[in-house]
Amino acid sequence: MESSTRASEPTDGQRRPFRDGLGFFGRFLRNPMTVGAVLPSSRYLSRALVGRLELAPGELVVEYGPGTGPATAAVREALPKGSQYLGIELDLRFHRMLTERFPTLAFHHGSAADLRAILEQRGLPKPARILSGLPFASLPPAIQDGVIDGIVWALRGTDGDFRTFQYVHAYGLRAARRFRAMMQERFSGFERIGPIVRNVPPAFVLRYWGAK
Ligand SMILES: C[S@@+](CC[C@H](N)C(=O)[O-])C[C@H]1O[C@@H](n2cnc3c(N)ncnc32)[C@H](O)[C@@H]1O
Repeated sequence: MESSTRASEPTDGQRRPFRDGLGFFGRFLRNPMTVGAVLPSSRYLSRALVGRLELAPGELVVEYGPGTGPATAAVREALPKGSQYLGIELDLRFHRMLTERFPTLAFHHGSAADLRAILEQRGLPKPARILSGLPFASLPPAIQDGVIDGIVWALRGTDGDFRTFQYVHAYGLRAARRFRAMMQERFSGFERIGPIVRNVPPAFVLRYWGAK
């Protein structure tokens, strides 16, 4: 028998953000410091983060902390043919969810601070783009340093860039300012996009290039 969905019934695609929101909130309650947000990013913030990827065949984009995958979905739409993607996710549940949801993309279960070792282990080139959903300000200082060292190592001497976001309400907080100050020391180029108001909470997208 043919199955049909009445116009008033929510489809799977409409239910997904709700289910993702609930699942995400559950992970936040368990690991508030590493999950760092109560809701996944909206598609508007995700698209602003991903922007234009402009990757040549064989080039790699790495995403840190894809969570339930809102930015991953935007990457999948924008990924040029022949280029590669690797998501690095610390949370095992999110990692499992991502591998099921995006069967054509690769995900590593581990820490973004280990970028170099992960790329070597997988025989991947240095990435041309690094996108990050990491809650940077709430990560332990040693992880922050490891993540930034890895980004600089990957992008130095290339025209690649790093993109992340910071929530507007937390933009002036000490930890957020510390992150930007550290990045400013290590990169010659900086651009701030937004605020992206169609996100809870609104956020700025930050882009860095010219790793020193
Ligand atoms: C604020 S959530 C963002 C999730 C998703 N990118 C979004 O925008 O909805 C942060 C994500 O980073 C992950 N995470 C935290 N520390 C990490 C680390 N050291 N390496 C990789 N992922 C990490 C968390 O498990 C979580 O999925």
